[in-house]
Amino acid sequence: MEVTINRASEDQRKPIPTDDTQLGFGRYFSDHMFLYDYSPEEGWHDPRIVPYGPLPLDPACMVLHYGQECFEGLKAYRGADGGIRLFRHRMNMERLQRSAKRLCMPAFDIDEVCDALKQLVLLDRDWIPRTEGCSLYVRPNYIATDPFLGVRPSLNYLFYIMVGPVGAYYPEGFNPVNIYVSDRYVRAVRGGVGEAKTAGNYAASLLAQMEAKKKGFTQVLWLDGVERRFIEEVGTMNIFFVIGDEVITSPLTGSILPGVTRDSVLHILRAWGHKVSERMLGIDEVVEAAEKGTLREAFGTGTAAIISPVGSLNYKGTDHRVADGKTGELSLKLYDHILAPQYGRKDDPYGWVERIDL
Ligand SMILES: Cc1ncc(COP(=O)(O)O)c(C=O)c1O
Repeated sequence: MEVTINRASEDQRKPIPTDDTQLGFGRYFSDHMFLYDYSPEEGWHDPRIVPYGPLPLDPACMVLHYGQECFEGLKAYRGADGGIRLFRHRMNMERLQRSAKRLCMPAFDIDEVCDALKQLVLLDRDWIPRTEGCSLYVRPNYIATDPFLGVRPSLNYLFYIMVGPVGAYYPEGFNPVNIYVSDRYVRAVRGGVGEAKTAGNYAASLLAQMEAKKKGFTQVLWLDGVERRFIEEVGTMNIFFVIGDEVITSPLTGSILPGVTRDSVLHILRAWGHKVSERMLGIDEVVEAAEKGTLREAFGTGTAAIISPVGSLNYKGTDHRVADGKTGELSLKLYDHILAPQYGRKDDPYGWVERIDL
C-alpha cells in the first residue's frame, strides 16, 4: 500500500509540549493523521497522511446516530537510547478487526494499517516524549460514514489514526487505588458488545464511574450482567486477584475486553511458574478471602497503567482491604517486567517489542 503524505505547513504545525509532567492524557494531538476510506465500489482506497484537523462529516452520518464504530488504544515509546518502540501493536489491530466484525464493518488488511501506523509515528516522532513512563498514544478509530438514518450497517467508512503525547500514569509513584463494586450498573452482558472496543461501552460506563467518583472511589469494578456476582473488569482494565497461591482472572466470556496487557500478564505469570486460572470468580469469594487474610493482591491491567494495584474494594457499603493495602510484590515485578523492554532498558524475552526507527 502506498500512503500519500501531505505534510503540515509551518503555520499548520503546533508547538510540541515541552514539560512532560504536564502532559496528562488525551489532551494533545500531533501535526498529522492517517486517513483511509472504504466504499463498496472501490473497497479500501486513498490511504493518506494529512495535516491533523477536523473531519468533514455529514450530520446524518451513521456513527453519530447509532455508534457503529470501533477503536483502539496503544502506545509508541522512546527509550533512553533514542529508539522508538511499539508493544504488540499487531494484537491491537487484530482486536480492532474482531471489533469491526462484531459491528458489521468491513475487514481491512492488518499489515497495511500496521504499516500506516508506523509511518505516522515516525513522521511525528518529535512528538514522542523523552521521559520514561511518558509515550505517544496511538488512537486508531474506524467509523460508519453513510449519511442515512435507517438502522442498518453503513456502506461507507473512514478508518483514521491520530497520535498524541501522554504523561506517565504514575507521576507520584505506584499507588494502590480504592475501587467501588457496582451492583447497580453493568458494563456489558454476554452476547452483547462487551468484547468489542466500541464507543457505546464507554458511554454506558460513565454514570457508574461518576457515582463512584462522587463517593470517593477511583474506579468501578464491574460484575457480570446476569447474576451481578462474578468479577468482570475494573474501569477500563482487566483485573487479576491473587488468592492464596492462585492468580485468577476472569475468562473471556464475551462481555470482557480481551486486553493485550491481560494476555501479556498471563503469559509472563505462566512463564514464571505461577498457578494461573482464567475462571469465574464471585465477589463473595473475594470478600471471603479478604476476611480470611488469603487475598494477597489485586491489580488491574491495561495499556494506560500497565499494572494498577488495588488497595481496597467497597462492596455493598463495606470496605475490604486487599492484604495490607499496599502495592503487592507481584504487581511491582510485573510492572517492571513489561515496562523496561518498552523503553529498551531490558531485553525483550517474548519478542513483543518492535523497534521501528532503524
Ligand atoms: C474495557 C477495557 N478493558 C480492558 C482494557 C485493557 O486492554 P489493553 O490491555 O489492551 O489496554 C481496556 C483498554 O483498552 C478497556 O477499555
